[in-house]
Amino acid sequence: MAPTSVAEAVRPQQAVAELLFQPYRLGPFTLPNRIVMAPLTRSRARQPGNVPSSLNACYYAQRASGAFIISEATQVSMQGQGYAWTPGIHSREQVEGWRLVTDAVHAAGGRIFLQLWHVGRISHPALQPDHMLPVAPSAITPAGDAFIENDRGEGQLVPFVRPRTLQIEEMPYIVQQYAHGARNAMAANFDGVEVHGANGYLIDQFISSGTNHRTDAYGGAVGNRARLLMEVVEAVSEIWGPDRVGVRLSPLGSFNDMSDAEPEVTFGTIAQLLNGLRFAYLHIVNPGLAAIEKGKAPDAGAEQMLALIREKYSGTLIVAGGFDRDTAEAWLEQSKADLIAFGRKFLANPDLPDRLRMRTGLNADDQSTYYGGGAKGYTDYPSLAQERGEQPKACVDDRWR
Ligand code: PHB
Repeated sequence: MAPTSVAEAVRPQQAVAELLFQPYRLGPFTLPNRIVMAPLTRSRARQPGNVPSSLNACYYAQRASGAFIISEATQVSMQGQGYAWTPGIHSREQVEGWRLVTDAVHAAGGRIFLQLWHVGRISHPALQPDHMLPVAPSAITPAGDAFIENDRGEGQLVPFVRPRTLQIEEMPYIVQQYAHGARNAMAANFDGVEVHGANGYLIDQFISSGTNHRTDAYGGAVGNRARLLMEVVEAVSEIWGPDRVGVRLSPLGSFNDMSDAEPEVTFGTIAQLLNGLRFAYLHIVNPGLAAIEKGKAPDAGAEQMLALIREKYSGTLIVAGGFDRDTAEAWLEQSKADLIAFGRKFLANPDLPDRLRMRTGLNADDQSTYYGGGAKGYTDYPSLAQERGEQPKACVDDRWR
């Protein structure tokens, strides 16, 4: 009898081939598993200038063992910034800073996309060039507070202001801001880019009827409300090639005071429009996330929205929000998603794929260190190797401002 191969010899231990740990082909990449690191705002860019540092490089490199990393949301311009200390991709220093990050991730064997971000009305004059008003599709003040830096250099919440309506003549300039960020991301050696069209930021403000009351070519019917999204995806795809471009949306999301009168029409139409563009992937925030966070089962509306998007969009679908190992695996098996993105679990577990595969315990995330600060609650979550007593891999300095 022929000797059994090593693979055959170990097979009995893995009677069921788990999809989470199977490779996946995404454009030019062969991803080692289906576990994506979701974009997470951490507000730890070096000051002045919102520049990524070696500390940020360390954090991302520690998390390089997933399918790929989607960077924290990164402003494409000063106008696009909405929170203190978030990184940008519009200055030369920022490009150089991001190179530290991409080099470290690549050296660790990973892949990383940059998330291109313009916050629109979710900002404040304190964060804007010349203390100007934030811009938006319509002059509607969001409920809630902006997170700015005060005179003492501390983070502080201040109420949002009424934004200025973008003139139609300014729209090409908005698209150019994303294109500039996309070109800079290429100079910084990213593997691709994700267009942030979710969570109540500028593109989502155009998409959703609650925040877009325009009567020109960028308002009214969903085809018009999706115009900015489509223009940005096309501009960015020309720079990167479509197979290195992703898009993130958050259908049914209410974060940042969002609403839409007919979400099924809006997001069903957009999924169909996007399907014609053939870029790398569509990434959605789980429409059932709000319910899951309250410990409830998602309602029928959330399920229907997911099914609608899966039906209209035939490319790779990533879903983020509220997953554990078993629900992630179930979604892959039922073909409800192709890849699963983990945010808070990846934040607290740098070696999350190993921990899920081995079904070990997970570190709990510490909310008090999500935003701002240094290494604490950022690069000091232990890996399994560290828990066994091994020294952490050299992970440089804690100087960030
Ligand atoms: C945040 O900084 O709170 C934030 C940023 C980007 C998101 C969601 C939340 O998509």
